[in-house]
Amino acid sequence: MEKYILQTKDLVRTYKADTPSPVYALKDIDVQLRRGEFVALMGRSGSGKSTFLHQIALLDRPTSGYIEIDGIDVSKLSETERAEFRLKMLGYVFQDYALIPELNLYENVALPMRALGKRKIQYDKDVHEIIKRVGLQDREKNLPSELSGGEQQRVSIARAIINKPDILFADEPTANLDSEAAAVVLDIMRELVDKYGQTIIMVTHEDDDKKYVDRVVWLKDGKLQSSQ
Ligand SMILES: Nc1ncnc2c1ncn2[C@@H]1O[C@H](COP(=O)(O)OP(=O)(O)OP(=O)(O)O)[C@@H](O)[C@H]1O
Ligand SMILES: [Mg+2]
Repeated sequence: MEKYILQTKDLVRTYKADTPSPVYALKDIDVQLRRGEFVALMGRSGSGKSTFLHQIALLDRPTSGYIEIDGIDVSKLSETERAEFRLKMLGYVFQDYALIPELNLYENVALPMRALGKRKIQYDKDVHEIIKRVGLQDREKNLPSELSGGEQQRVSIARAIINKPDILFADEPTANLDSEAAAVVLDIMRELVDKYGQTIIMVTHEDDDKKYVDRVVWLKDGKLQSSQ
């Protein structure tokens, strides 16, 4: 088994702009994530944090560079294989939650289970349990539009971890939570790492969140600053 569950080499992502030169969102990023570590990704707004997470979670394709997950060169995967890989191995908490508006809270959380072809009898208990853990047991039948931003964020977290992903990518998962709800979420993430050996990379702006993680990686203007 490889020591690193995820690594990148010379990762570049540029966006085409109306100007003669492209916008460099990411410049030559080399990162290694060990199995079972909890890493915080920090940096100013626009430094490339979400762009980086999108690349390594296979939601986007880099302009150039190499990404390896669980020993696999992911550039070699077909679209179908990438989708299956994401479903089985990766969980993602989106900065804007990305819940399905027509589905209620319970159905949103159960979605990854259904996508894996599981039946309700197989996942029902787990879904109720995880919803309870994020404190939303009384809101299971509500649509996302009937929930506050912080509540939607917690639904997004529950959905991302229901499949027990090997790697969890969380883009500012506590940004809209009060400090009590944030502590609940951070405790859950810490437990996923300590008890189940999951690997987590979390974008955050909160200095307080640092005490939950094993190390901090900084991005500045699309470049990696430090990674101890
Ligand atoms: N689709 C796009 N087209 C063009 N430029 C983009 C696109 N997405 C992001 N960018 C640019 O890439 C840079 C990095 O953006 P990114 O969203 O990764 O930043 P971030 O660190 O996540 O910021 P925040 O803390 O505000 O979420 C920014 O300059 C942004 O304007
Ligand atoms: Mg962002």
